[in-house]
Parts: sequence; C-alpha cells; structure tokens
Amino acid sequence: MSGGARWRASRAAASGRSPRAAGFLTVLAVSMLAGVASAQEEAELDPAGNDVADTASLQRGARYYVNYCLGCHSAQYVRYNRLAEDLQLTEDLVVQNLMFTGEQPFDTMTNSMRPEDAVRWFGIAPPDLSLIARSRGTDYVYTYLRSFYQAPSSLTGVDNVVLPNTAMPHVLWELQGINRAVFEADEAHDGEEVFRRFEQVSAGQLTPQQYDQVVRDIVNFLDYIGDPTQLAREALGIRVIGILLVFLVIAWLLKREIWKDVT
Ligand code: HEC
Repeated sequence: MSGGARWRASRAAASGRSPRAAGFLTVLAVSMLAGVASAQEEAELDPAGNDVADTASLQRGARYYVNYCLGCHSAQYVRYNRLAEDLQLTEDLVVQNLMFTGEQPFDTMTNSMRPEDAVRWFGIAPPDLSLIARSRGTDYVYTYLRSFYQAPSSLTGVDNVVLPNTAMPHVLWELQGINRAVFEADEAHDGEEVFRRFEQVSAGQLTPQQYDQVVRDIVNFLDYIGDPTQLAREALGIRVIGILLVFLVIAWLLKREIWKDVT
C-alpha cells in the first residue's frame, strides 16, 4: 500500500451520482475516449496471494463469509454439505459454525433478504457472490475489501477507491479501522485528482497485516466456491501423470525385452 499513484480512479466519479448512473457515465466516457479514459479509470490491484489448497484458510474464510457477508450476499450454488466435505469439516462442525438459521445440510447458502428490500435499502441489490472471484478476479475482490475510506457525504459514510460510489457499507470496519483517502492533483493527468494513499483515522481491532490475512481468507473462500472442483481436478491431474510415468517405465522395459535378441 505504499504511496504513489497506486490508483487512477478519479474523484469526479465519486460525486453524488447513483452507482448505476456513475457506471453508465463511466462506460460512456470509456467508449468515447477509448484507451485514454480506461487507463485513467482503472484501479491498480494488489495481488491476493491466496491458495485454495490451504484448507485452514478456507475454513476461516467460510466462517468470515457467514458472519460478515452472507446476510447480504447469497452464494446460491454452494451447498453446506459440499462445504463440509471439501473443507474437511464434520457435518456437526458445519451446523455449529456456519449454519445459524435452521438450514438443512443439503441447503444452498442463501439469505432471507428480498431483492426489492435490498434495492430500497442500498439502491442496488447486493450480487450473489458464487462466481465473483471468476467474474472480477481475486485481486479485484482483495483490493476492493481493503479500499474503503471515509466519505461523510455518502449514505454509508464510506466510499471505495476501486469501485467509486459503491453502495456497499464497510462491513469490516471494526477489524480494519477507518481510513482517509488522500487525493492529489496529478500533472501527468491534466491536474486531475488521483488517489495517492490511505491514512488511518482510527485503528481497528487488527493490525494491517492481520486484516490483509482476513481478507485473503475471504477471497480464498470465494475463489474456491467459484470453482469447487479445482482442488479435485489438480489432484486428479497429478495422479494421471503418475500413472503415465509408470506406463512409460513398463513400455521401456518391454521395448528392451523385445529388442534384446535383435541387437
Ligand atoms: C449490508 C449489506 C452488505 C454486506 C454485509 C456485504 N456487502 Fe458486499 N455489497 C453490498 C452491496 C449493496 C453491493 C453492491 C455495491 C455496488 O454495486 O455499488 C455489494 C457489492 C459487493 C461486491 C461486488 C463489487 C463489484 O465490483 O460489483 C463484492 C465483491 C462484495 N460486495 C463483497 C462482499 C464481501 C466479501 C462481504 C463480506 C465481507 C460483503 N460484501 C458484505 C452489500 C453488502
């Protein structure tokens, strides 16, 4: 998170427009100014560095997801009993730690928020996050969750450098604390205000390193649910290569046996 022009999100986009209108205007601007505009609007992302083979991280991520995200964001393609199996948890553990509202193990991860209420509360329904790591990328989600900053004029009291004008509140603020974002006029961009760095206004329960790890665990969980078979696939690939190597040895021995008398 060291200073410099890490992000090029312009502050103009963070004025009082609705997310939809801002999104539309951004698309319009990008299509009109082609490469120039997109280069200026695009946020530079930090690498998530998550590892879906790290089961302990997936278990923590699942718990954070249920506690901090599921209330607003369903994960409708994920079944609790599948989680139990893949995350190496007993069904009892899943019931005790991840299921609080009387779901059955074969239920999917949904919530009781009605889309029309969500639109009334937030102006936009929180998206289902089953596939978010695939559609937006893990680096995007990792950077997004670490880029909320104080914005008194916003309804939620915060804005986000990666998704200006976001309707999502900073749900992890108690862990991260509150940041202020410093924007400065940038000569290279016609004096346009660009994001420079964050400054902490009040500390959270965690150090920045601990907070990054929490976010990495959540992103890891989202990466896994976006493609739950990736672990099994990799394990299968290694086994297949192992079997092919065994056959290679057999074939070589066979060849030696057959050609023994010829040469
Ligand atoms: C209080 C409700 C609420 C909670 C809790 C919540 N979100 Fe959101 N989230 C939203 C809303 C509303 C949006 C839509 C934001 C927008 O498009 O401006 C959103 C959007 C997102 C997006 C998509 C951003 C994009 O580029 O479209 C991601 C990723 C996300 N949330 C992740 C999370 C994660 C991870 C958690 C748990 C740590 C979480 N959210 C908790 C309300 C919530």
